[in-house]
Amino acid sequence: MTKQFYQFPKDFWWGSASSATQMEGAAHEGGKGENIWDHWYKEEPNRFFDEVGPENTSNFYHQYKEDIQLMKELGHNSFRPSISWSRLIPTGDGEVNQEAVRFYRDAFQTMRENGIEPFINLYHFDMPMSMQEKGGWTSREVVEAYVRYAKICFEQFGDLVTKWFTHNEPVVPVEGQYLYGFHYPAELDFKKGVQAGFHAVLAGAKAVQAFRDGGYAGEIGVILNLTPSYPRSQHPEDLKAAHIADLFFNRSFLDPFVKGEFPEDLVKLLDEEGFTPEVLEGDLELIANNTVDLLGINYYQPRRIKAKENMPNLQAPFLPERFFDYFHEMHGRKMNKYRGWEIYEKGIYDILVNVRENYGNIPCFISENGMGVEDEGRFIDENGQIQDDYRIEFYKSHLKWVHKALEEGTNVKGYHVWTFIDNWSWLNAYKNRYGLISLDLNNNFKRTIKKSGEWYRSVSEQSGFED
Ligand code: BG6
Repeated sequence: MTKQFYQFPKDFWWGSASSATQMEGAAHEGGKGENIWDHWYKEEPNRFFDEVGPENTSNFYHQYKEDIQLMKELGHNSFRPSISWSRLIPTGDGEVNQEAVRFYRDAFQTMRENGIEPFINLYHFDMPMSMQEKGGWTSREVVEAYVRYAKICFEQFGDLVTKWFTHNEPVVPVEGQYLYGFHYPAELDFKKGVQAGFHAVLAGAKAVQAFRDGGYAGEIGVILNLTPSYPRSQHPEDLKAAHIADLFFNRSFLDPFVKGEFPEDLVKLLDEEGFTPEVLEGDLELIANNTVDLLGINYYQPRRIKAKENMPNLQAPFLPERFFDYFHEMHGRKMNKYRGWEIYEKGIYDILVNVRENYGNIPCFISENGMGVEDEGRFIDENGQIQDDYRIEFYKSHLKWVHKALEEGTNVKGYHVWTFIDNWSWLNAYKNRYGLISLDLNNNFKRTIKKSGEWYRSVSEQSGFED
């Protein structure tokens, strides 16, 4: 086969993403308050893989200067960390921690000086504990505290940041906290989940409004994990089940953040089931008037959906599991032998086409795409470098589809990988490694560039690659 060069625009955003709780460390230093992860680890360390908690991350809080140099070395022109709400405002709604202001200002300034645009996310799964005690996202008071926090971020860092994001994957805390139980407080309650989801949308719209009212320079967006829902067959029941999965997991956030309205079918379904959230006068108008400028898309794997045989038993008392009475998720075709998730490259293209055709071709970028690998140490060579050719293949195969979408006119402006340095991933801790750089926890947080890191440097330098 003849080789081809996949050329992306010269100003394409090349970089990576991570989040405060997953990379900062210093969980109990610098005046930081407790968040739900610190609390959960203290209460139930055995829930965490190998009992490794959030103080054992890659230590960005202390090593950020070194890490930013490494980003530069790997050709990053942008990087997306998040701000830790409980570091900036330890009680969630009280005093601002000046040490945190100094840390974030210096980190963002250092990025800029090294040609790395800070893409700043305000919320990545890390509710301050005092806010969770008030009900977290289920509470209206917490929505207001979040909006105050967002305003403080715009005021303190607005001269250094021009790309803001209200949330990362807002559907995940709904699933984790209230549907499946993999985020604290693991309270399985569908009604609370719907309320929390609605409040996250409302909080996002209020942050967008505050950003525009404040006249800050730049753009504000949201980062969503989009999972194309493919029906198992063209049978009407399978099509319906796939549509419902799409409504719950994708359109529940995509539609209000980008179009300013919830999908009619979703509203109807929740209403029929008795799960309409509390909505106050003016909320829907506020959401309609404050949509985002920019959409970040996280893509890992699709959903393959098959209708359940006895769909659904509407007479039964509602249990969280009944949410899934509508559909089964099926395993896909090409399973990832390094981890277990399906790899389906074309999914990334299907999302981009959908955004172009049905969401006004809003400016967007791939904000996370990556391959988690278990026991990655087995791929170390004699020089101590991880030979992750499988990851290079993964990136290439996805980037080819991004390139095709771009050529067809999708307004896609960048590609960020998950992640820069292997990071701590919630309950999974270090089970799955994703980095361009490996982290040795037993050797003073030693960083070693993987083979994929070197490959990625050549891609960002040329804004493209040959294959
Ligand atoms: C992404 C999240 O969806 O998945 C990250 O934004 C997370 O925060 C990543 O770390 C990987 O997840 P996992 O389950 O492989 O640890």
